[in-house]
Amino acid sequence: MSAPGLENPLSRALREKTVLVAVGSGGVGKTTVAAALALRSASAEGRRALVCTIDPAKRLANALGLSELGNAEMRIDEALLRHADVPAKAPLFAMMLDMKRTWDELVERSAPPDKREKILNSRFYQALSSRLAGSQEYIAMEKLAQLRARSDYDLVVLDTPPTAHAIDFLDAPNRILDFLDTDAARWLLTPALAAGRVGLRFLSFGSSYAAKTLSKFTGAETLQELAGFMLSISTLNESFRQRARQVGELLAAPSTSFVIVTAPNPERLDEVVHFHTLLRQNQMNVAAVVVNRVHPRPTEAQRADATALPEPLRGRVEATLDELQALAERDADAIAALRRACEPTPFIFVPRFERDVHDLTALWHTARYLTGDLEMTAP
Ligand SMILES: Nc1ncnc2c1ncn2[C@@H]1O[C@H](COP(=O)(O)OP(=O)(O)OP(=O)(O)O)[C@@H](O)[C@H]1O
Ligand SMILES: [Mg+2]
Repeated sequence: MSAPGLENPLSRALREKTVLVAVGSGGVGKTTVAAALALRSASAEGRRALVCTIDPAKRLANALGLSELGNAEMRIDEALLRHADVPAKAPLFAMMLDMKRTWDELVERSAPPDKREKILNSRFYQALSSRLAGSQEYIAMEKLAQLRARSDYDLVVLDTPPTAHAIDFLDAPNRILDFLDTDAARWLLTPALAAGRVGLRFLSFGSSYAAKTLSKFTGAETLQELAGFMLSISTLNESFRQRARQVGELLAAPSTSFVIVTAPNPERLDEVVHFHTLLRQNQMNVAAVVVNRVHPRPTEAQRADATALPEPLRGRVEATLDELQALAERDADAIAALRRACEPTPFIFVPRFERDVHDLTALWHTARYLTGDLEMTAP
């Protein structure tokens, strides 16, 4: 919650930034927060906004007018916004990121025409693009760089894949570069290997990600096939590197901010603190930490209402209120610790709603908490 007199940090970010990236572990509310922020940007700030979602819940996708993958940017129908009582100052767009297609497009753009098919059809490419650690995170950022380069939106809000470990996300460009690392490439491209005379087991890559991924292939896959793939992929080395550098720069730009989303769940606090530290160490801007699904404390009015009930109903309702109180206390302790560890980044709280956030009305309601129109009493 922002201190009295200070502007809500997310309202400000919605006005000033051109890229917002919602990050956090699985299931905490990244997609919800990303969509709510884009909605708010278009509807309240009058900035043409796009939310790039990743695997949104089906009902949310429907509410945004998205029916299938394919990187298509769809404008949200103004009639739907009006129907949900949401103002429509500027157009709002949404899309679902198609990871495979985005990888393929990257290769198509980066590879010489005679090498494209060879790379796209290779089993190694298919495994690397889907299984290499960080490849999902990377491709989301690659899409972001593409969208940004076109600059037809005032604000792009990027949702991100569930990240098991914060470092996977920040390190994604480096991991992709690591795969193209000259050492690994040199080993693979030695003439002996290319001729298929040396076994893979003689090659030592240490613990590089490339080696780990490639070591999953055994038996049937031939060395020649691997060497051939490495030879063709080496042709897109430089443009790939350049792109990974651009993506890194975009994330560190002053016009980009991260929004860290978390549950008030004590088990996950270390990870949030770690992620926050990493972002700051990398000179990346954190607009706010959003603590989502916070249990509100039962109010005095709820307590008084319970007292007026006949037994045994009164006992049951009071027990439920006590449980809620305990959950709210647990959240409050966790949040206090988190705030201390993330000084001076501002915090924003969104209560746990009774229902999922799967339509425009609920998204708008969530956005009002994010931008300070509505505030939870401090947990
Ligand atoms: N404050 C809230 N109160 C109640 N339900 C919520 C709240 N925020 C999000 N939800 C619901 O929780 C579910 C998970 O949210 P969401 O999909 O945004 O999480 P996510 O971090 O994107 O998940 P994933 O890591 O799987 O992509 C959704 O059904 C969403 O509608
Ligand atoms: Mg999601």
